[in-house]
Amino acid sequence: MTGRSPAAAVTAGGPLRDYDDIFVPVLFHPWACLLVGALTPEPASAALDVGTGPGTVARVLAACVGPAGRVVAVDSNADMLALAENKPAVAGAPISYLEGDAGALQVPDDEFDVVTCQQILQFVTDLPAALAKIRVSVKHGGRLGALTWCALDRNPLFRVLFDTVRDQFGSEAAEAFAKPWSLSAPETARAVAAAGFTDVLARRHTLPAVFPGGPDQVCRFFGFTSVGGDLSDLDETSRHAFYKLARKRLAPMTAGDGTLYTTTTAALIVARA
Ligand SMILES: C[S@@+](CC[C@H](N)C(=O)[O-])C[C@H]1O[C@@H](n2cnc3c(N)ncnc32)[C@H](O)[C@@H]1O
Repeated sequence: MTGRSPAAAVTAGGPLRDYDDIFVPVLFHPWACLLVGALTPEPASAALDVGTGPGTVARVLAACVGPAGRVVAVDSNADMLALAENKPAVAGAPISYLEGDAGALQVPDDEFDVVTCQQILQFVTDLPAALAKIRVSVKHGGRLGALTWCALDRNPLFRVLFDTVRDQFGSEAAEAFAKPWSLSAPETARAVAAAGFTDVLARRHTLPAVFPGGPDQVCRFFGFTSVGGDLSDLDETSRHAFYKLARKRLAPMTAGDGTLYTTTTAALIVARA
């Protein structure tokens, strides 16, 4: 395994900064705690986090497995990894960040006690190949934990964002935007079993999500999605109309003090190697 050179750890900004500053604390960190809690790796375990983004699950794993453990965290986006590497170290295991594709993981076989995939499997082009490699990287008896969003009908916040994209940009753009909500729990569970994992369990969970900055804060979500570029290309009047429509649709979730209250629902898949 080879790590990234320190020179690669540049500071990323813009939409990815919003992802880390707004959506990690409100959405992705609470889900990471649920995911790692479901696996409860032993102290001193070796853990792999695939599609780590800004290190969301990797950092929870590091605290959980403690200083005698170790964490390897992989992502294909160098800017995400730069965000992760520039954070202060967590108390616990050291984390090695690797740039790479989940479909061609450069990690040894039979190496890890636990592997996590939080909101990444729906983006992987060759899911069977990726899960097959993940499977051989796990020691006999080790475990996989994966989270994927449930459908938009179970995710009212994301549904509003999707509807706004569809109304502004049309169905083709909406289909691309809907990728994060496109992999069902049964599909994921079948793919995990087909890769050779056993005792595959799928269960739906719902968590609260509270945005103190209200609709304006939620609208920062668009920036790092498939429509981020389209929005920047709109003229000011059209962009203003787009955000006005999104804010209007988010109003029913918003309290008098401007805080937005909602829930998100995802499928947790746990399996044994
Ligand atoms: C929604 S983010 C989730 C990040 C992180 N797991 C979290 O919970 O904050 C999806 C991440 O998967 C990464 N990703 C997407 N496709 C990938 C692939 N084929 N191989 C590795 N990483 C990938 C993206 O770069 C992004 O960081």
